[in-house]
Amino acid sequence: MLDKRLAVCASYVNKNSIAADIGTDHAYLPVYLIKNGISRFVYACDIKEGPLKAASLTVVQSGYADKISVVRSDGLDSVPLSGVTDVIVAGMGGETIAEIIGRCDYLKENKVNLILQPMTRAHTLRRFMCISGFSIKAEAAVRSGEFCYTVINAEYSPEKTNSDEYYFYTGELSNLKPDDIEYLSRLKNKLTVSGEGMKNSSDKKAKGEKNIEIANKISEFLKEGIK
Ligand SMILES: C[S@@+](CC[C@H](N)C(=O)[O-])C[C@H]1O[C@@H](n2cnc3c(N)ncnc32)[C@H](O)[C@@H]1O
Repeated sequence: MLDKRLAVCASYVNKNSIAADIGTDHAYLPVYLIKNGISRFVYACDIKEGPLKAASLTVVQSGYADKISVVRSDGLDSVPLSGVTDVIVAGMGGETIAEIIGRCDYLKENKVNLILQPMTRAHTLRRFMCISGFSIKAEAAVRSGEFCYTVINAEYSPEKTNSDEYYFYTGELSNLKPDDIEYLSRLKNKLTVSGEGMKNSSDKKAKGEKNIEIANKISEFLKEGIK
């Protein structure tokens, strides 16, 4: 059984896809994608020995060894990309995800369906995506235990990108389901606290004021439902 966070990632993967799960760890997501008829083939990729062993064991036990290939790879560097339609990078920091995406031209050239789930610095990842020509097609927040994350679905589409600092923080979280509200409320509180702290320091004053402006805009959005 997949946890809620990975289940939301799976919901954005295209039917009949050839997918690559980068940082697969135990390969739970690849097995789910095959078992549920979502993907026809999945590369389960990781950089470390321990996760690769765990992934191989899960794949063999699942009986889907003919449809899941375990690959040692730093990001997408060693993945046989020909035919890959969907890439999932979940459970890493936003900056690491940005680095992985940024050094793989195939993703742009083939308009690969990207599913990205940053554990931290989601705004850094969104900013990178927008500046690099990737547009966010959809997004959903997920509450998992005491934490709240976002799952970003994107593809290379430079004509549709956004360049607004508010957008880098809130992305496409506009459905206002309970987990989206929780994510945005926490973000608003975080930006308010950090903004108030920075306002008193001469070199961070402008950044502090910007954070508070974004927090106020989120507050309005949560009240009015209009972005
Ligand atoms: C916290 S686990 C996330 C597992 C799973 N994707 C999830 O979201 O539950 C992060 C995994 O990413 C792997 N990883 C970290 N940096 C990587 C990189 N540059 N390329 C491939 N895998 C990486 C780690 O070895 C680890 O297994």
